[in-house]
Amino acid sequence: MSWPGVVNRYRDRLAIQGEAVTLLEGNTPLIPLPRLADRFLPGATLYAKFEGLNPTGSFKDRGMTAAVTQAVHDGATALICASTGNTAASAAAYAARAGIKCVVLIPEGKVALGKLAGAIAYGAQVIQIRGSFDDGLRLVQEISQTMPLALVNSVNPARLEGQKTGAFEVVETLGRAPDLFALPVGNAGNISAYGIGFTEAFERGDCDARPRYIGGQAWGASPLVLGAAVAHPETAATAIRIGNPARWHQAMETVCESGGQIWRVADGEIFTTYHALAELEGVFCEPSSAAGVAALIKSVKFGKLSVADQTIVSVLTGHGLKDPDSAVAGASAPLVVDATLTDLQRVLS
Ligand code: F0G
Repeated sequence: MSWPGVVNRYRDRLAIQGEAVTLLEGNTPLIPLPRLADRFLPGATLYAKFEGLNPTGSFKDRGMTAAVTQAVHDGATALICASTGNTAASAAAYAARAGIKCVVLIPEGKVALGKLAGAIAYGAQVIQIRGSFDDGLRLVQEISQTMPLALVNSVNPARLEGQKTGAFEVVETLGRAPDLFALPVGNAGNISAYGIGFTEAFERGDCDARPRYIGGQAWGASPLVLGAAVAHPETAATAIRIGNPARWHQAMETVCESGGQIWRVADGEIFTTYHALAELEGVFCEPSSAAGVAALIKSVKFGKLSVADQTIVSVLTGHGLKDPDSAVAGASAPLVVDATLTDLQRVLS
């Protein structure tokens, strides 16, 4: 049987009603990362849950299929969200799929090109705001109270319902829960959703333990580590440029109960890990996606975590092609030669 998308696949485990609005998202691979583990996390068995392979290129599609299915069931004719880019692209695609309108608010000049391209291509009304994601989230929460616009940010519980299916897939693929589970943390919806998902899988008896969570926040946007909102978040990892996460308390509860930790990682550490994933393993994710692995590497380096004999899964939340500018930044332009054998031999010798 072909894959039916996450709402149909896990229908009996999701609090979602309505005929699925789906692009057949989910069922993403768990890719072993042996070279990266050898180099940075010796003794660990490391996998990437590569969520960049979803239909719009990020994990948001799991939550969006669920949120849009429920919204359409409830009679919505238009969606709205604030976004650092991926939620916008995903909402726009699922709105197109449902034949309804979509409005997205993004921080001016701070959204990676591939995400903006998606939102535009899928036909959303894109509005840039002079402010941060946090300002945008406040605005869409307010406007959705007064206008007929269904809010599809992760404050909407249907989003977490969809995103928890990532945990179900990890448990099915591994035949158990990982010992450690690492991911980037921005608005903190995804870590909260995985917390629900692994707990539900555990309660069903699909796994006999739950993972310890390791989160990564960007240095200049690390409210959960600082214990205080950040008024002007800054990081080149624009997907997680968030100063006041909506799911703050749920995320902290998930991490603390598990005995895990959230780390702040400098942009340099995020980008080093991002390049290592691509160059050592052939896995090209977007910069923010590497923050979970960067947090693991940092906690081992500081002697705060022992990974020997541990099975580790890190979610790589978005595809590298979302952010082509980051991929070429700092690289020298490719060599140009005359189209002759002599010239080619000269540069290859
Ligand atoms: N990784 C990527 C690629 C993201 O786009 C996001 C969030 C995160 C990680 C963090 O996930 O918010 O659930 O903690 N992007 C949102 C957006 C905010 O608007 O696309 P989170």
